[in-house]
Amino acid sequence: GSLQFGYNTGVINAPEQKLRAFFNSTWMERYGRPIEPGMCTIVWSFSVAIFSVGGMVGSFSVGVLANRFGRKLSMILVNILAVIGGLLMGFSTLCSSYEMVIAGRLVIGLFCGLFTGLTPMYVGEVSPTPLRGAFGTLHQLGVVVGILVAQIFGLESLLGSEKLWPLLLALTVVPAVVQCILLPFCPESPRFLLINQNKEEEARKALVRLRGSEDVSKDMQEMKEESAKMAMEKKVTIPELFRIAAYRQPLLIAVMLHLSQQLSGINAVFYYSTGIFESAGVTQPIYATIGAGAVNTVFTVVSLFLVERAGRRTLHLIGLAGMAVSALLMTIALLLVGTKGYSSLSYLSIGAVFLFVAMFEMGPGPIPWFIVAELFSQGPRPAAMAVAGCCNWTANFLVGVSFPKLEELCGPYVFIIFLVFLIFFFVFTYFKVPETKGKTFEEIARDFGGTLPPVATSAEAPPTGSGGTLPASPIKEKV
Ligand code: GLC
Repeated sequence: GSLQFGYNTGVINAPEQKLRAFFNSTWMERYGRPIEPGMCTIVWSFSVAIFSVGGMVGSFSVGVLANRFGRKLSMILVNILAVIGGLLMGFSTLCSSYEMVIAGRLVIGLFCGLFTGLTPMYVGEVSPTPLRGAFGTLHQLGVVVGILVAQIFGLESLLGSEKLWPLLLALTVVPAVVQCILLPFCPESPRFLLINQNKEEEARKALVRLRGSEDVSKDMQEMKEESAKMAMEKKVTIPELFRIAAYRQPLLIAVMLHLSQQLSGINAVFYYSTGIFESAGVTQPIYATIGAGAVNTVFTVVSLFLVERAGRRTLHLIGLAGMAVSALLMTIALLLVGTKGYSSLSYLSIGAVFLFVAMFEMGPGPIPWFIVAELFSQGPRPAAMAVAGCCNWTANFLVGVSFPKLEELCGPYVFIIFLVFLIFFFVFTYFKVPETKGKTFEEIARDFGGTLPPVATSAEAPPTGSGGTLPASPIKEKV
């Protein structure tokens, strides 16, 4: 699922000219004249942007699906969308229909939106507490590998050619089929089985498979405690999420972290890096773009190893600060590159973009995707993932559609906009975001306090999560 999201994010950029030529030839066939340049740009922008619109709708629907069909079956079912979307795009040239490209991008967007909720939710629920962040980062690793694969396959000498681009877009069907074959071998989320469905024995069996050990009493005990406390709120709807006071702080944090991810400007780089490199005087921009994809992947792996040591909060802060420095360097490079005698500054621009991407993957890339599952217990989790995911996709859409215009308006100062956002989100994270490393879901929910039903006295049932009991809540004071 994660790989698919990355692949479809990155795949559309390389074959832009080929797609435009296809729009033109279809137009010729239908109306006997070439498409006007303005119309061609409209069709092109639609094909790009409708993906995020699908993402917004898909991510918002995740709660309904995950609660109704469970995590595993939902993921299997959602793959149907990838097959439909892939086929629509793959057969668009055969049917001489650019509408099929647009429709395919919409369906693929829906699919990716659903998966950006389902994957982190499932992964968060099946991971052992001490490794939840590392497993959560694997979602982002899937995304970045997907982007890199799309960038490489999109090269003209591979699938980015005039003939093969429909195949490039249709390739998304392959992982969908593979996933449908493999998912049935995975256990359903034991939390879903026990807390939502009251199926204790099945939950135990799933845990035994997941942990590779017969002794799963610790995990079972922890889930039962959560279940007992959450008896009143097994399913929380989106309106309830906003109404209940106890969810307000975690919801604010979840939404802000997702906004910090997108308003950092990362996708200005991933959607438009080739153009940015060109204006900074880089001679082979496509390779610099692939370089950025490679740096992206390497630093996600670095974060994977750091996240359980340094913690989420620290890494997010380091990432935002590092991105702010890179945005400043980028501005300097863009400002000076036109000046005589500073032509080597194109290297500074490459360096700044690489640093920007590397710092993004230290924290702002992976953390928002998995921290929402951590900030909420079983009942409100699906609704919270839906709201946070939808904010992410909306901000993604806004950056995507507005960046070219902003670049036109602000010229070399365009990255200053992201710099301001980065500083704002740094301050927010510093003052408001708690550390969740090593804590059980139940401990995290308790730290937010509020109006949740009280625990069945801690003397009778001490918390048993591997993170241990918490000292007097540092989170509550901070928030
Ligand atoms: C995150 C973002 C996505 C971005 C990617 C870049 O997953 O959600 O929008 O393209 O990182 O690595």
